[in-house]
Amino acid sequence: MPQDGPQAGPRRAAPWCRLLGAFLAVALLSACDGPQSVLVPAGEDASQIDRLFRVMLAGAIVLWLGMNGLFYFITRRYTGAISRRRAEAVILGGGVALPVVVITALLVWGLSIMPDQRAPGDGLRVRIVGEQFWWRVEYWPEGAEAPVVSANELRLPVGQRSEILLDTADVIHAFWIPALGGKMDMIPGRTNRMTLVPTEAGTFRGACTEFCGLSHALMALNAVTLPEPAFADWLAAEAGPARAAEGPGRDLFFREGCGACHALRGTPAQGAVGPDLTHLGSRTSLASGILPMTAEALAGWIRDPQAAKPGAEMPAYDHLTEDELATLAAWLEGLE
Ligand code: CUA
Repeated sequence: MPQDGPQAGPRRAAPWCRLLGAFLAVALLSACDGPQSVLVPAGEDASQIDRLFRVMLAGAIVLWLGMNGLFYFITRRYTGAISRRRAEAVILGGGVALPVVVITALLVWGLSIMPDQRAPGDGLRVRIVGEQFWWRVEYWPEGAEAPVVSANELRLPVGQRSEILLDTADVIHAFWIPALGGKMDMIPGRTNRMTLVPTEAGTFRGACTEFCGLSHALMALNAVTLPEPAFADWLAAEAGPARAAEGPGRDLFFREGCGACHALRGTPAQGAVGPDLTHLGSRTSLASGILPMTAEALAGWIRDPQAAKPGAEMPAYDHLTEDELATLAAWLEGLE
């Protein structure tokens, strides 16, 4: 045994180090990119959170290395006796004084960025209501008396601080678009408020981050950020009536009673139970972020919504023929 001592240390450490290296490499390479990453901020608020995270991560690494270095030194390298006074100094210094200083500094810094995350908006207010399992979205431009109603997608102007009012129609949901800012709960009976300033134009992905039922994991949404003029054009178009062309698709929509649950502005369809479909075809996804906006996906969704989203409240229309489904889906996709 004695001759193992000096050699066994480094040999034993090697696989352990390789494991740590592999873990760090995987952690660094995966999940760093993509439209739903906190590590690729595209908004002022997300950048602040990202900075806080990186400083805390660096601090945690330094502390981890320091603690393990100390442990290694004491158990493997230090051979002398330790006086009681010295031991107490280490405990008080490293166990009380250092954490108090570090945690107080982080707390003060963390609290100092919170007012920015709730700063007054520049004019646009967006009310988002969580439903099972989709998002009702209402745009209230400054001075508007009625909202522009949409669903399952959030569009925001770049460089402007928009106010987001969060509400729920049923259970607790939570709203989070990691690239733009922090997450916030949607709680029955109250309206939570946050503000977001996108700094880049693009499409980012968000998700519901509070368990809300069977299809919680299928409750996503895309956030599309646009330069100010493009956003104004989009909002003006979104406020307009549906381009609900006459034809067999429209006939099917009304014959099947779709308008009892869904609204198509400018038509007799005024239902408010399900998502507003006025400009459905111009959205970047179907079924709140889980299906592509194609006629094929629309037909499948109408035939059996439960297949794509268990627990969804929309009933299946599996009594329609394939031809009818295709006709209705193509017409809906044309609602741009
Ligand atoms: Cu809505 Cu989870």
